[in-house]
Amino acid sequence: MTQLFLVSIGPGDPELISPKAINAIDACSDIVAYGLYLELLGKARQCKTKPGKTHHELPLGQEIERARLALDLAASGKITALISSGDIGIYAMASAVFELLDYQLPGHVRDPKWLDVDIEIIPGISAMQANSSSVGALLGHDFCTISLSDLLTPWETIENRVHSAGSGDFVVTFYNPASKKRNWQLNTVRDILLQYRPGTTPTVLGRNLTRAEHSVRIITLDQLDASQVDMFTCVSVGNRESRHIINPNSDWVYTPRGYSLRH
Ligand SMILES: C[S@@+](CC[C@H](N)C(=O)[O-])C[C@H]1O[C@@H](n2cnc3c(N)ncnc32)[C@H](O)[C@@H]1O
Repeated sequence: MTQLFLVSIGPGDPELISPKAINAIDACSDIVAYGLYLELLGKARQCKTKPGKTHHELPLGQEIERARLALDLAASGKITALISSGDIGIYAMASAVFELLDYQLPGHVRDPKWLDVDIEIIPGISAMQANSSSVGALLGHDFCTISLSDLLTPWETIENRVHSAGSGDFVVTFYNPASKKRNWQLNTVRDILLQYRPGTTPTVLGRNLTRAEHSVRIITLDQLDASQVDMFTCVSVGNRESRHIINPNSDWVYTPRGYSLRH
């Protein structure tokens, strides 16, 4: 029997890693992950020092290589855990594994042994949930996520999706809002959303959520600017009903489900 666990480790706080994920990590002999994820995990499980486990660290940008290595290790009989932050099925490594199984990517010939690997996917808490709960309940009604990375998706497609989110009045969370090489996209999508919802719409910038160096800022949509974010930030924009309530001791942002309208 060959086993590959696709393990989600949540946004950062070790206490947000599910017991099922911990069990999978404990059971495996080989862990494949980007260095930062191993660091987050190491704090939770001292995996780095656990005897008998081999860690395979591959840098960002080598997603297909990481997925391929995990499949190869599992196919060779090693119980393997491939790890992603947040949820491994959301803009993360699970898709890379299934793309490899599905297609023969250029330069990567599909290995028939991969088809015998038993794959179990363990879900986790994604950045949008951590962002919403950091301020209240911004995802309280229909929402969507849009990645602003146009490395693999044409920009025109991304813009069309933002128009759809705007006309459908979805709460929107933008993942990958900016990087050193991508600094104009966020302002463009802000201007698109402003065609559909007011400038006063509550907007939440969550950076390094649930990690030691986390920060959360509540602003309005018309104040949003790409200079405020980086690749460790996710940006959630409320819908037309979302509210920012300011109490003497705390601020909350939530999206109503409409209960008060019925009473
Ligand atoms: C490649 S995506 C990975 C998403 C991840 N699988 C998830 O479910 O959260 C990377 C983007 O997720 C967002 N992100 C992931 N973890 C975050 C955190 N702890 N705080 C803020 N944003 C985060 C950022 O927008 C970042 O650029």
